[in-house]
Amino acid sequence: MMNTGTIARPHGDTLDTAFPQDSGRAPGPANWPLVGQSLAFWLDPLNYTLKLQREYGDVARYHVRGEPIYLLGHPDHVRHVFDRNSGNYRKSNFYDAVRPFFGNGLVLSEGDFWKRQRQTMQPAFHRDRIVEMAKVMQRGAQEFADSLHATARSGEPIDIVNPMMCSALNTATRAMFGVDSDEVFERMRRAVPLLLRGAEQRIWSVLPISYKIPLPANIRFNRALRDLDDVVWTIINDRRATGRRADPGDLLDMLLEARDVDGNGLTDQQLRDEVLTIFVAGFETVANAISFTLLLLAHHPEIQEKIRAELDTVLNGDIPSYETVRSLPELTNAFQEAMRVYPPIWTVSRALVGDDEIGGYRIPAGSTVQIAPYLLHRDPRWWEKPNRFWPDHFTKERADARPRYAYMPFGGGPRVCLGRNFAMMEGPIVIGTLLQRYRIKPGSDDGLTEPEAMISLRPKKGAMLRLEPRA
Ligand code: HEM
Repeated sequence: MMNTGTIARPHGDTLDTAFPQDSGRAPGPANWPLVGQSLAFWLDPLNYTLKLQREYGDVARYHVRGEPIYLLGHPDHVRHVFDRNSGNYRKSNFYDAVRPFFGNGLVLSEGDFWKRQRQTMQPAFHRDRIVEMAKVMQRGAQEFADSLHATARSGEPIDIVNPMMCSALNTATRAMFGVDSDEVFERMRRAVPLLLRGAEQRIWSVLPISYKIPLPANIRFNRALRDLDDVVWTIINDRRATGRRADPGDLLDMLLEARDVDGNGLTDQQLRDEVLTIFVAGFETVANAISFTLLLLAHHPEIQEKIRAELDTVLNGDIPSYETVRSLPELTNAFQEAMRVYPPIWTVSRALVGDDEIGGYRIPAGSTVQIAPYLLHRDPRWWEKPNRFWPDHFTKERADARPRYAYMPFGGGPRVCLGRNFAMMEGPIVIGTLLQRYRIKPGSDDGLTEPEAMISLRPKKGAMLRLEPRA
């Protein structure tokens, strides 16, 4: 039985919505033996997620490989899981696919161990560090803009995704680990996508597949993992040999200097897991967010011109910096809006430790809840133009009127993204630098590319752009 409630919309009027009150089992499609809805989900995860909420309301129950998943569609439910009752939630089994490379690093660790690691690493992203990192981002943005010049002059279209991945990887590696080596960049650039694709195949496969079976894909995956381990150990051992690079120290210094209450440092395995976690978590998301923003701007020349006018007025030819980014609302709103439309991490999930009740439904211990930024970001209850790219969604008045967790590209609660401030600085610096140098136009007649939803959300057929040098 579902009762109907009413929710205030940010712009005054109200909208009927399903609000169950009976604490029974959440509604959803019938479970098919063994596979559940795996196939429907696998074929079109984004639309299937939207459809589930449309048909069953804010708590929808479906099955993947026979296991029940509860899809939560209301910001209050997200707040319950992320903030109010976060102690009752752990990362779900879906994250096991990334365990070979994340190990027990920050994305996957739990409890007191996670808390200690988070406290160790958090200072590496404090204001004084972001100020320093912003300089590294400026250098990366300029190099990136320079590297595109010949293609721009030729008038040829370019798929910006791969060059953007390389640029974001170089910047993250320089800024967080003080490493500036083409060989390291190249080895990481080859290995990380192979690992992510391998993990994605496992998460989305209808049946579980072990990494140990000697299939060609597994052999490639394990080779990439060994190569990445080798790179990480080279970086750690070089720093151990040469000592602290920066003052205040960078992330690697903080990990090497961390001590527990008994004065013990991190074990080698812990060090490897944290460094590798940051490498993998820290660049593909940013690169996809920037690529999507550029693609959307190419298809919205009027918004692009508004940002360019702001850049010309505020910066007078300088590239965006830590100090000036906050004076560029058109630019930052466009970046935030692109992450609303295409959130780079489109879905996350948690497992319940003990029974809970959400939205009036009982959810048993051991079940999985799914929280999809993609779904919350397109809900007409919170967004005036949910299916349009409209940076004015982020004017102060509109942002203040929205419930917390209607927008959540970086997750939330104690486990909110560690690199949020880093990404929110790098995006505007890179995009602002490119817009100052080039007019960005669509590189093909195909219209806006569809997003491909795996662990991250990325442009399915790349992001084809044509860059026109500004006079
Ligand atoms: C636009 C760029 C980025 C997006 C959209 C993004 C998104 C997210 C999201 C949604 C989560 C939460 C996952 C969950 O709840 O299961 C997360 C966690 C995390 N992110 Fe990011 N991220 C971005 C950039 C970065 C960068 C640059 C770093 C590098 C430091 C980073 C490091 C992490 C780490 C270590 C966690 C785990 C935090 C914890 O559990 O304590 N991310 N990110």
